[in-house]
Amino acid sequence: MAAKDKLIIFDTTLRDGEQSPGASMTRDEKVRIAKMLEKMNVDVIEAGFAIASQGDFEAVRSVAEAIKDSTVCSLARAVKGDIERAAEAIKPANSGRIHTFIATSPIHMQYKLQMEPEKVLEQAVAAVKLARNFTDDVEFSLEDASRSQFDFMCRIIDAVITAGAKTINLPDTVGYAVPDEYGSMFGRLLQAIPNADKAIFSTHCHNDLGLAVANSLSAVMHGARQIECTINGLGERAGNAALEEIVMALKTRKDFMPVETHIDASHIVPTSRLVASITGFPVQPNKAIVGANAFAHESGIHQDGILKHRETYEIMRAEDVGWNTNKLVLGKHSGRAAVKARFSALGLTFESDALFNEAFIRFKALADKKHEIFDEDLQALVTDSSVESEGNNIQLAELEVVSKSGQLPVAT
Ligand code: KIV
Ligand code: ZN
Repeated sequence: MAAKDKLIIFDTTLRDGEQSPGASMTRDEKVRIAKMLEKMNVDVIEAGFAIASQGDFEAVRSVAEAIKDSTVCSLARAVKGDIERAAEAIKPANSGRIHTFIATSPIHMQYKLQMEPEKVLEQAVAAVKLARNFTDDVEFSLEDASRSQFDFMCRIIDAVITAGAKTINLPDTVGYAVPDEYGSMFGRLLQAIPNADKAIFSTHCHNDLGLAVANSLSAVMHGARQIECTINGLGERAGNAALEEIVMALKTRKDFMPVETHIDASHIVPTSRLVASITGFPVQPNKAIVGANAFAHESGIHQDGILKHRETYEIMRAEDVGWNTNKLVLGKHSGRAAVKARFSALGLTFESDALFNEAFIRFKALADKKHEIFDEDLQALVTDSSVESEGNNIQLAELEVVSKSGQLPVAT
């Protein structure tokens, strides 16, 4: 099998994630999250927008001081003051990147920037040249690329690569693109631009239509080799592409993907929890990978399948992303196999099938009144002499049903 290309994971939780209204973080909080990202082997950590405030400047600088193994990056508009401030902030980094950007779509150039395209091109080149005085690692973003004109993008990309940009990022700034369209934009640009092989092409997708991850992966299929993403999909409006979904899609479907990452996925859930607790943005229960129900099963048919062979209803292992285990939630959809297994795990066995049937009927009646049945509820259901309590609990191979709190324990 041909060797796979490396995909660079660029995490922007601390910059674009923080731009989510209400998600701002202190310097120390950013450093704590950055250390978790470093442990996870994230390649590039965008720590903030140094010109935005004195606090954000100090946060980027502190992250640059604390992080040794990941590249630390600051965002900067394509203007002198921003670039100099970004350069100052990343100075202590072992490996520092300046990420400069300007909008290239007709609507942004006309209404927001009020600049002619030629002037935008000139400013982009000047920004990249200036940034290269401070670091060899300069990224240039064409803001609103997915709504920009193809020929203009070809010209500006060619010019900024000649000026020294090593990464070209093509954001779907407003989450407007659909996967085939976004992916083929990369394919066409990579073919049309003569010096495209001198830079890494990068995705940066917003989730306004819920397509951020699909768009990012489509771009990878067409030659992108960096994905910009955030933990829990945090970010402006509906958020950014979620790091955990991208990483696990690439790992789970590696048979289909031309790239691999160096991410240690076992840190995903603890990092997700940390970001949620620092920002105060809870993770929805049905969120892929990191939601409390991502590896939970309630229906009887699914629970029976899982007890027989885990892969009947699981495409990933909960343990691989940092959960302690998957879980079988007992509720009104649960079947006999899971209920019996849970009784056994509690050390409760039945003298006959008829006695278990009786307990199961009582279980169903209770489950109709309650969302979830906990261990205490099961114990209360069978307090008469028909049940033998065993000294040794029967262990369920690899399966923990639900803990007393109803929460999944998290690996540390
Ligand atoms: O969404 C966007 O276009 C951005 C750029 C600044 C990279 O966040
Ligand atoms: Zn963005």
